[in-house]
Amino acid sequence: MDSKGSVELQPGEGAPGCPQEGLPCPPDSSELVRECLNQFQLTERQLRQIQARILGSMELALRGEASPVPAVRMLPAYVGSIPHGTEQGDFLVLELGATGASLRVLWVTLTGMEGCQMEPRSQEFLIPQELMLGPGQQLFDFAARCLSEFLDAFPVGNRRLQLGFSFSFPCHQTGLDRSILISWTKGFRCSGVEGQDVVQLLRDAIKRQGAYSVDVVAVVNDTVGTMMGCGPGSAPCEVGLVVDTGTNACYMEEARHVAVLDEDRGRVCVSIEWGSFGDDGVLGPVLTTFDRILDQESLNPGAQRFEKMIGGLYLGELVRQVLAHLAQHGVLFGGRTSPALLSQGGVLLEHVAEMEDPSTGTARVRAILQGLGLSPGAEDAELVQRVCAAVCTRAARLCAAALAAVLTRLQHGREQQTLQIAVATGGQVFERHPRFLSVLRETVKLLAPECDVSFTPSVDGGGRGVAMVTAVAARVAAHRRMLEETLALFRLNHEQLAQVQAQMREAMAQGLRGEASSLRMLPTYVRATPDGSERGDFLALDLGGTNFRVLLVRVAASGVQITSEIYSIPEHVAQGPGEQLFDLIVDCILNFQQKQGLSGQSLPLGFTFSFPCRQVGLDQGILLNWTKGFSASDCEGQDVVGLLRQAIVRKQAVKLNVVAIVNDTVGTMMSCGYEDPRCEVGLIVGTGTNACYMEELQNVAGVAGDVGLMCINMEWGAFGDDGSLGTLTTCFDELVDQASINPGKQRFEKMISGMYLGEIVRHILLHLTSLGVLFRGQKTQRLQTRDIFKTKFLSEIESDSLALRQVRAILEDLGLPLTSDDALMVLEVCQAVSQRAAQLCGAGVAAVVEKIRENRGLDKLTVSVGVDGTLYKLHPHFSGLVAATVRELAPRCVVTFLQSEDGSGKGAALVTAVACRLAQQAPV
Ligand code: BG6
Ligand code: GLC
Ligand code: GLC
Repeated sequence: MDSKGSVELQPGEGAPGCPQEGLPCPPDSSELVRECLNQFQLTERQLRQIQARILGSMELALRGEASPVPAVRMLPAYVGSIPHGTEQGDFLVLELGATGASLRVLWVTLTGMEGCQMEPRSQEFLIPQELMLGPGQQLFDFAARCLSEFLDAFPVGNRRLQLGFSFSFPCHQTGLDRSILISWTKGFRCSGVEGQDVVQLLRDAIKRQGAYSVDVVAVVNDTVGTMMGCGPGSAPCEVGLVVDTGTNACYMEEARHVAVLDEDRGRVCVSIEWGSFGDDGVLGPVLTTFDRILDQESLNPGAQRFEKMIGGLYLGELVRQVLAHLAQHGVLFGGRTSPALLSQGGVLLEHVAEMEDPSTGTARVRAILQGLGLSPGAEDAELVQRVCAAVCTRAARLCAAALAAVLTRLQHGREQQTLQIAVATGGQVFERHPRFLSVLRETVKLLAPECDVSFTPSVDGGGRGVAMVTAVAARVAAHRRMLEETLALFRLNHEQLAQVQAQMREAMAQGLRGEASSLRMLPTYVRATPDGSERGDFLALDLGGTNFRVLLVRVAASGVQITSEIYSIPEHVAQGPGEQLFDLIVDCILNFQQKQGLSGQSLPLGFTFSFPCRQVGLDQGILLNWTKGFSASDCEGQDVVGLLRQAIVRKQAVKLNVVAIVNDTVGTMMSCGYEDPRCEVGLIVGTGTNACYMEELQNVAGVAGDVGLMCINMEWGAFGDDGSLGTLTTCFDELVDQASINPGKQRFEKMISGMYLGEIVRHILLHLTSLGVLFRGQKTQRLQTRDIFKTKFLSEIESDSLALRQVRAILEDLGLPLTSDDALMVLEVCQAVSQRAAQLCGAGVAAVVEKIRENRGLDKLTVSVGVDGTLYKLHPHFSGLVAATVRELAPRCVVTFLQSEDGSGKGAALVTAVACRLAQQAPV
């Protein structure tokens, strides 16, 4: 379809017949009538071209392209939310410019309950013609006077009133209460207003008037009021269509597509200002001579060409011109005219609407014509009806082409196969003219068949919608405040983070000295990171993260080769009898050996066991307590290697040679250390969180010797279990802790790791829902279900902050009724929770690297941290935030983070390899 050239005219279809400019009409009257009326006919092809052209123009204008000048304006309206229906309060509305020369003031009371609406009180004032063309200040003073006169009937006293200003002309809005008039349209041409902020002009006038204290809080176009005042329906109402004196529409566009806005999230209402479509001449071929004359005689020749074929101000005028033409050529009224028929404004929309209605009898049509000073003959009524129908049908079909362009735009923007949408309609043409809507509806169906559109008349002529915008602005501000207050609990400043770092340092020192501390600082008996000389084949187990793995690790001069198998540990086993858990582990090992052809062999085995263990040697670890959802009985206080050996005996399986038990942090550090000798810290941020690092042996109480280093498993997940994090823990952390299987334990871990973040978010969402801030206050059963909000959702949601598509998909999957405001707020909740987690983690790492630096008396320390864990690896911003926090809190350390690619099993094998080598070297 041609979207660049002008709209074509198909030969023979709607061809311009009579009157060609300057040419006399053919004498045959029926021929003359046919050719006159044919001019108003548009083919489907032409309509489709107009649809495509408008769509193209809309997209051009959205992108902010200045050349070629887009034919429509696409003006953002600073309205980002469609109404909830829960808005409440009293609002004043002042309407200027929608319906001809009248100004309307309304008092709207919103009850907050759908289906229970109070009738607004309103008063209409006629604007004297001279004010519409005089100095702007006079017009605004008149508006302020009308407002006072209206309010005189209300007992308002000194009350401050909030007013929404419906100003229906093309304006550049720069805020909800700031709007610069671009140009007058529709019979207005007051001086000194174009280029000015009309809200300020109104405020000044109200002040000059001085009678009442009225805050002008929002300004909107009539289309926006129409959309916002849409009654409740099944589909979301995201388009407002006005055919009043003029015509225009607005709709909800993705903010990121609106180039003039900085905002890239959520949606925003855009007023299309399609009335100016065709001002570049593109409509030329479909314009009739009557359109050209009408334009020439208007206040704004050359402008608003599309509007002049559709708007109510012009329909009467077009009919008048055709009737006058036919009368002058002797086809109507016996060749006689009347002063009304010959003067501009002589035939009004209401005449046309009534005469065109097929149910209007000829007697009534004749009466109307007589009222216009004409003497219709018997056949004139029928012909006049045909003229009215031709003009109005064309208007409705053109309007449909434009609306179809908007629907297509919405459908593409939302990447939906079929679009279900409600269009709110407003304006006198709809009110007076029932057939207009039916033609419009049919044509839209033809041009946009994949859209399921329902049309809903706006309530109170858009007045209620304006009150809604005013109320929504107030509600959004209130909800934002509540959201901010809630999330403020999660926002940590530099001082707070430095405090966490300092407390961590203190707790580390106490733990190392063997004093009471929430940090256990467990010696691991790992004294060195790998040096590359390790060789051999090893078995490894990896228990305690998301997956349980059995691995075969081949360490050769050429590198490390890993074969592994994942097994699942069902929750009932993780939380059942200990023997059952270790039996399952042995079963998995046997299965693995069999698969790998290793049955019967007794390879040295390294066991990554990611729970706090007190080690007395490399191959002995007493489980102090379970963490992360494990609670298998009769294990705490036992040597884990012993438990494994007993299971081997029970299973009568071959002997396993368990050489080392290793925490996952240690495994990770060793694994990364194989590639980078500077790796002296291991960090896990996955299901749980923890860190280990190389400490000076002399600082470690309870281990013999004071030369060299030893890796310390900090078990920092338990940091704060002595209450030291009290000021940072929120009520949401308390809820998560209380519902866990280890209340009061692992408090730091519960603020950071994957097992808990989703739950924190879920509790915040529940809280915001109960405040009515989210999901319209509806708490679904699913949202109240524990662990329903997975931590991986945070990663997914935050990965797609632009389109918020992910948020919608996830929340809709959870059965949550979602608006785009909700989606944005859920994203902000996730961001606040994951940001705090990353910053706390960063404060911990800062404490560790600073300790190493000070241990070594260095001005500057260069060190690497080996990291593993799904949260750290999958979350889009977590790692960056950790690094940033470390830079801020430990400026004298240059820290590189290395992500472990092979898991900690490789590290466990390397620890085993070192141990084997040392054992071989040991004197017999
Ligand atoms: C794996 C390691 O890669 O990461 C495990 O091999 C570790 O030892 C785990 O426990 C931590 O991450 P998550 O997200 O699985 O708990
Ligand atoms: C004119 C105005 C526009 C308004 C429309 C309907 O086109 O420019 O702002 O929405 O009329 O009243
Ligand atoms: C838990 C465990 C700890 C482990 C961490 C990461 O905090 O207690 O040993 O390192 O999770 O998996």
